Amino acid sequence: MPVPYRIGLLGLGHVGGALARRLVEDADRIATAAGRPIALEAIAVAHPQGRSAPAPLRPANEVVGDAKLDAIVELMGGLEPAHTYIKAALQAGRQLITANKQVIATHGPTLARLGPLRFEASVASAIPIVETLAESLGSDRIRAVAGILNGTTNSILEAMGAGSSYADALADAQRRGLAEADPSADVEAHDPAAKLAIIAMLAFHHRIDPSQIARVGIRELGHAELLNARERGCIVKLIAAARTVNERGIEADVRPRLIPRDAPMARVDGAMNAIAVDATYAGPLFLQGVGAGPDAAASAVLADLVRAARDIPASAGALLASLADQPVAAIAPMGSNPPYPSAS
Ligand SMILES: NC(=O)c1ccc[n+]([C@@H]2O[C@H](COP(=O)([O-])OP(=O)(O)OC[C@H]3O[C@@H](n4cnc5c(N)ncnc54)[C@H](OP(=O)(O)O)[C@@H]3O)[C@@H](O)[C@H]2O)c1
Repeated sequence: MPVPYRIGLLGLGHVGGALARRLVEDADRIATAAGRPIALEAIAVAHPQGRSAPAPLRPANEVVGDAKLDAIVELMGGLEPAHTYIKAALQAGRQLITANKQVIATHGPTLARLGPLRFEASVASAIPIVETLAESLGSDRIRAVAGILNGTTNSILEAMGAGSSYADALADAQRRGLAEADPSADVEAHDPAAKLAIIAMLAFHHRIDPSQIARVGIRELGHAELLNARERGCIVKLIAAARTVNERGIEADVRPRLIPRDAPMARVDGAMNAIAVDATYAGPLFLQGVGAGPDAAASAVLADLVRAARDIPASAGALLASLADQPVAAIAPMGSNPPYPSAS
């Protein structure tokens, strides 16, 4: 019987709960994929009182410091204390798996220098873009990446295109659990800007500060703009896009863009996400899939767990680590230039 791969979990919310369920319900299938069983040994939550869980509940600092664990899976979210726990776990020699786009976009390169850091779930959940950029396309030259990286705003824009006001479309998304009570991270485009920073670092091998990416959210969009788009045979999508200019500078921004109705990006509906990659040698690629939701995110976390249990190198983490000593790249907004022909 192979030795189990022992993990500690920080966070048992939407994604952590879905991961814990999969680890129990799909244990045999996961063991086959990982080459050995994956054993959930400890869990930390913010409110443990009176709570039942599929493994002992322990304080987060104890879980992070437990030398018997092979890996820590961080699914708490937010910058702090998640960043501090991730750093401590890596310094203590654990493998680290996270879905936290804020921590990776802001601190990814310095954290990745400390040890194996895996973060497939931090961008577009189930779409396998992180390791694809770092490994499969790692030796290519990526000219541009562009995508719909936020399902909440995509759903709101779709409802507005069908005649709802922004306020009604937002309220409906909140009722359906798609938008949070404070929707600013989505509608002001902080969320897709963080995800864009991560994929742009992996695509262009430059260190990027997400706060330098220009953002135009969807709050100010009115019916006139959407009507005008329809009359021009287009649809409005919130597009996160970045490209290299003469292999030196980087242009990037997140903003609503007009997409022709028959373009693949126009047919990405509701909570779906899509990413177009323009690679010099591999050519144009278009990846589409479920961009949010507990099962989709847990599926990407499990992919990282299987790679960790099999001792497969953390390629995306290694790439970020190689950027840690670089100065932060200057970024100009892309403005009204089309991000990349087949995306627009
Ligand atoms: N939800 C999605 O569809 C999705 C998709 C892709 C990526 N992600 C990312 O996945 C991560 C988790 O998201 P989520 O939706 O699962 O969040 P969530 O439902 O809010 O769950 C957060 C969990 O973390 C625990 N927690 C919070 N602060 C803690 C602390 N200081 N110490 C210990 N535990 C703490 C909470 O404990 P309590 O249960 O006691 O409150 C809860 O169990 C985030 O980084 C998010 O961006 C989410």
